Amino acid sequence: MTLQKIKEGEVEFYVSSEKKLSRKMQVFYNPVMSFQRDLNIALLKALDKKELRIADILAGSGVRSLRILKEVKNVEQILVNDGSPEAVKIIKKNIKNKKAVITNKNAHQALQEFPSFDYIDIDPFGSPNPFLDASIQKLKNKGILAVTATDTSALCGSYIKACQRKYWSIPLRNELMHEIGIRILARKVQLVGSQYDKALTPIFCHSTLHYMRIYFQCERGKSKVDEIIKQHEYFHYNNKTMEFFSSKKNTENDMITAGPIFTGNLWSPELVEKMIGVSEHKEFLKKILDEAKINVIGFYDMHEVASLLKTSCPKKEKLLKYGVSTHFTPTGIKSKLTIEEFKKNFN
Ligand SMILES: C[S@@+](CC[C@H](N)C(=O)[O-])C[C@H]1O[C@@H](n2cnc3c(N)ncnc32)[C@H](O)[C@@H]1O
Repeated sequence: MTLQKIKEGEVEFYVSSEKKLSRKMQVFYNPVMSFQRDLNIALLKALDKKELRIADILAGSGVRSLRILKEVKNVEQILVNDGSPEAVKIIKKNIKNKKAVITNKNAHQALQEFPSFDYIDIDPFGSPNPFLDASIQKLKNKGILAVTATDTSALCGSYIKACQRKYWSIPLRNELMHEIGIRILARKVQLVGSQYDKALTPIFCHSTLHYMRIYFQCERGKSKVDEIIKQHEYFHYNNKTMEFFSSKKNTENDMITAGPIFTGNLWSPELVEKMIGVSEHKEFLKKILDEAKINVIGFYDMHEVASLLKTSCPKKEKLLKYGVSTHFTPTGIKSKLTIEEFKKNFN
């Protein structure tokens, strides 16, 4: 395998010099995901936990672990695992730190061989499903679980049956699909957690390009889990009026029904505020902070509203009087107004 040296964050490391990005790469490294890893580092810095025990169970080139070791304080030990022998060869070349334990195992087996962790990262090709059970079992109380999903075609409604099979929920195929998809993913992970009396509360998430990523904080306890499950509801959307709401009922007159979804806040505003202080992606995080503070499900897409009203679209600045931007789409406004009120104030 020929290697090339590259830089990301504060580290330099080797990756395979293959140009074409695919699962078949001998060692997987996607430079586009550096944004995701930057936010990951900011989140760990903002949490400022003591004596962190970390598991990077699908480590690829090891770049995430290498960056955590260099950029985050208080790491006690980090398990850097990948099932591919080629990946582990590169990981060993990249990471010389004594705090790293490098293994070449199936992720489940690697997790089994260690005591519980404060932070576990699941960054797979496609769905995180195969790794949820083993990871959640090995997550400490107050620990953080990071979950990436790249099978957005299922979560966002291109393949409804795939979403039902994999995420036990019906997706929505319209302007809200990314937010509903991330809420479907959150609920699925929470249901796996509930089997082990672990309540998994989202503290940060984003849907970017072809992937979604959610960070959960774990709290043990049956009543805590019950509180999470209470926040699982169906989502109803009216195609003709753009009205939407969530409810416990799995059908409502004149509405298309998706879900169940997690209806709670997807972000901790306090955490996002701290992340802004330590991240280079301040503009993006400020948008997320607005979303976290307004804490509503869904948004109004200004182009869709204009087309429904058969009118021209006003400037976004004008509509921001009635709400805030959303990172889910540049044309979305999260608002506390009902859609009818929003339409009245549209132009
Ligand atoms: C998307 S890549 C990981 C990228 C990496 N986390 C990063 O930030 O660059 C997924 C990795 O999971 C590994 N993998 C897939 N299935 C596995 C399994 N069952 N156990 C361990 N590793 C596995 C693959 O070899 C691949 O390196």
